[in-house]
Amino acid sequence: MNWFNAFHFTRFSHDYTDTILSWIKGEKDRVLWSGNSFSGGLNHQRFKHHLKRKDLFAFQLLDSEKNIHAYGEVVLQAIDRATLCRIIVDPQIRGKGLGKFFCQKLIMEVKAWGVIRQISLNTLTSNNPALKCYRRLGFRQESIKKRSRQIGNTWHDLIFMSLSL
Ligand SMILES: CC(C)(COP(=O)(O)OP(=O)(O)OC[C@H]1O[C@@H](n2cnc3c(N)ncnc32)[C@H](O)[C@@H]1OP(=O)(O)O)[C@@H](O)C(=O)NCCC(=O)NCCS
Repeated sequence: MNWFNAFHFTRFSHDYTDTILSWIKGEKDRVLWSGNSFSGGLNHQRFKHHLKRKDLFAFQLLDSEKNIHAYGEVVLQAIDRATLCRIIVDPQIRGKGLGKFFCQKLIMEVKAWGVIRQISLNTLTSNNPALKCYRRLGFRQESIKKRSRQIGNTWHDLIFMSLSL
């Protein structure tokens, strides 16, 4: 049986907030995952507040025992445009294809809405797993913003990508 069939893609349930936050171990993890979104600090309360945004739809991947292994958001930009944001896979099982599988589910979800014509996203050019994952799924570079995010003393470039549906 395909390993991925054991996972269920659903809307995010707030019960898993602490697990998601436990995957973010420090500044580097936070910036890779969420850019400047939580530059004022990331904690349970701030994340819960963030989830109240009306333009944001959060999703999760659960295994058959209802443990969460991936989290990500679709943010509406316009009636026909959406952005994938803050995608993260359980650090214990990265590099096994789950990121691609989960992003594919997010794309299928957006497609099923029937109105979105373009999905965009951005990531650091130094974030190889994310970059490879998005390229594999068909995202293509739109532009690069130099020295856009800081991790410690190092500035990183941001790449903007899009996928037409
Ligand atoms: C980015 C992320 C979601 C990808 O999920 P994943 O399950 O690790 O990725 P996958 O196993 O599906 O692999 C996706 C691609 O990246 C490659 N890859 C995975 N880990 C890699 C690594 N450490 N170094 C280089 N390439 C890597 C895979 O080979 C695959 O490419 P391929 O299809 O060309 O072989 C995950 O690494 C993660 O949660 N990172 C931390 C949070 C983050 O950076 N989120 C992105 C925000 S924009």
